[in-house]
Amino acid sequence: MEQQSNNIPKHFAVIMDGNGRWAKKRGLPRLLGHRAGVEALERTLRAAAEMGVSVLSVYAFSTENWNRPKMEVAGLMELLQRYAKAKVPELKKSGVKVRFCGSRKGVPEEVLNVIDWSESETAACDRITLAVCFNYGGRQEIIDAISAAQQAGMVIRTEDDLRCFLYLPDLPDPDLVIRTSGELRLSNFWLWQSSYSEFYFTDTLWPDFGKEELKKALESYSGRERRYGRVEQL
Ligand code: IPE
Ligand code: IPE
Ligand code: MG
Repeated sequence: MEQQSNNIPKHFAVIMDGNGRWAKKRGLPRLLGHRAGVEALERTLRAAAEMGVSVLSVYAFSTENWNRPKMEVAGLMELLQRYAKAKVPELKKSGVKVRFCGSRKGVPEEVLNVIDWSESETAACDRITLAVCFNYGGRQEIIDAISAAQQAGMVIRTEDDLRCFLYLPDLPDPDLVIRTSGELRLSNFWLWQSSYSEFYFTDTLWPDFGKEELKKALESYSGRERRYGRVEQL
């Protein structure tokens, strides 16, 4: 295992963007870009575990991604199922707890079954958590939290009141959010949770991302001072 530096983020989040452009540059269909993106996820997960990160969360499918061509959406649903079925046993052996984060509404039943199976298979793992944000939208999450609170007869008055109705309430907030492919926006990711996150943007397309890029991001993070509204420490 690698030496753990002083300032490794506990929760490191990635907006895995640029699969389509990666494929286009090579004259390939977009779905092959997504497949290459899955390999980048495997590399990044391995490296994050070696470096001592506790939670890796990844934005895999947004509530807005349903607006893509039918073929691409179907391909992404199939990729998730195929990847989970093939890799969950390996992930389990390596101590990866898989959790999904998102709305179940609109997700095909066979995909939900694979999601439930992946979570229950790896529930006892404790080396690193892989939180897959799938059919996730930050605004939808807040709306769902408010409805769940109403159904439970609770009035939300404080941040903690709302937090306990989020999709994964026990997950720590992301310390560092990375977005690949040069886009400089959140696209509805971790809207509530990222209010004090650090951000790191890289032009690298997601399928080209790996250990070296991760190290650069973590180096940048370790040099930052998080002030949370307080004055600068001299
Ligand atoms: C990110 O890559 C993956 C998903 C949104 C599922 P994109 O598919 O958005 O790739 P670009 O942005 O078109 O290059
Ligand atoms: C954000 O990427 C969603 C995921 C990475 C899953 P998009 O490519 O969908 O975001 P926009 O449309 O460029 O904002
Ligand atoms: Mg994109």
